[in-house]
Amino acid sequence: LPANKWEPVLPDSAGIAGGGLALAGLRIDWLAERYETPLYIYDETTLRNKARHALEAFAPLKARVSFAAKACSTLGVLRILRVEMLGLDVVSGGELEAGLRADFTAKDMHLHGNCKTASELETAVEMEIRAIVLDNTVELSQLETVCARLRKHARVWLRMAPSLEAETHPYLRTTGRRVKFGFASPSCEEQAALNAVARSRWLKLSGLHVHLGSQITDVRIYQRAAQRLIEIAESVPGDISELELSLGGGWAVAYRPGDSFLEAERVAAALAPAFEAHDSYRAAVEPGRALVARAALAVYRVGSVKKRDGVRIVAVDGGMGDNPRPALYGTQYAAILPSRPLDEPVGPADIVGRYCESGDVLARDVLLPPVAGGDLVCIPVSGAYQLSMASTYNLVPQPAVISVRDGEARLLTRRATHDDLFAREI
Ligand SMILES: Cc1ncc(COP(=O)(O)O)c(C=O)c1O
Repeated sequence: LPANKWEPVLPDSAGIAGGGLALAGLRIDWLAERYETPLYIYDETTLRNKARHALEAFAPLKARVSFAAKACSTLGVLRILRVEMLGLDVVSGGELEAGLRADFTAKDMHLHGNCKTASELETAVEMEIRAIVLDNTVELSQLETVCARLRKHARVWLRMAPSLEAETHPYLRTTGRRVKFGFASPSCEEQAALNAVARSRWLKLSGLHVHLGSQITDVRIYQRAAQRLIEIAESVPGDISELELSLGGGWAVAYRPGDSFLEAERVAAALAPAFEAHDSYRAAVEPGRALVARAALAVYRVGSVKKRDGVRIVAVDGGMGDNPRPALYGTQYAAILPSRPLDEPVGPADIVGRYCESGDVLARDVLLPPVAGGDLVCIPVSGAYQLSMASTYNLVPQPAVISVRDGEARLLTRRATHDDLFAREI
């Protein structure tokens, strides 16, 4: 493969076999025949490399690295990340259950959420989860009530929303003006929450948290956030020797060759001075996308090709049902024809999905070789926030998910059936 062109967006085991694109030595067109399309293929080597790379980068800081399960909650993927010794950030009872099913223990997980249910809080307290990340004062009192009823203590972090604004899509920004997450910082509310936890019989403050947003390329905002968390930590009354200060996730990935991205070691290096100067605090991070996005390819079969206003409109058998991201916040992807990855492009094409929405466009203006009905199209960097955000819109069954490693493929999630679609109807 033209390495410099595709390297930032293809999985680590990608290569050419007999003129076609292959992962772990298996041709994509062969996998598509065997498992049908749309098909999501996770490369186990990339997942393991990404996890190890992040752990190594943060080892000098003795930082805890957790995976944000919202990016991909496929159990087979979570199990691989568990074996690699990551912690898990979950945001619902469902993700908590996914973590347990993937063999994470309660001590490996922390629970986020800006509107947790009473039963989620109860489950988390009962199982003695590593930390419950409090988002607001109502939740704080709710949790105290739950703890008092169960006569159990809970470790809590407070989620802070400093007035820092990451340069990213507004829907991917989680601090700054009018965001819905956490305690505005500084604010009276933040102070009241810190005091309430300090006074509480049942809650023990074990950390402070900030997640700035996603697709962040400039590390300086992480430094400012760390500084802010340290300032807050210094103002906390009582024993704070074991406080974890979590900087969330958000490291950008490249969706197309040439896009900027942020590697683990750059974030770690940026955070190091602040934590070295305050070594009683333990750093923590919880990347999602950066660990799994590049590990997967989505593979679709082309139905029709039309020409409109000089651009080919290539319709494929998936789309916004399995990947809502372009419609949600305008993500731009690349595309490859896996049977002829080295052929020269002849002009632009829009890869459109099969769903009844004009916004169902997976990739716009991508340069492609000649393409016809029956061909396969791969969308790289499909491992994060696609299947975990998938819907059954238009009642299209959701795709199968496989993993590949050393010439072997494993089915992780079977393709959904029509019966699955109606399983909850009375
Ligand atoms: C609280 C929190 N932590 C971590 C993440 C992971 O972000 P990313 O996948 O961009 O690393 C998110 C994403 O929404 C989040 O909300």
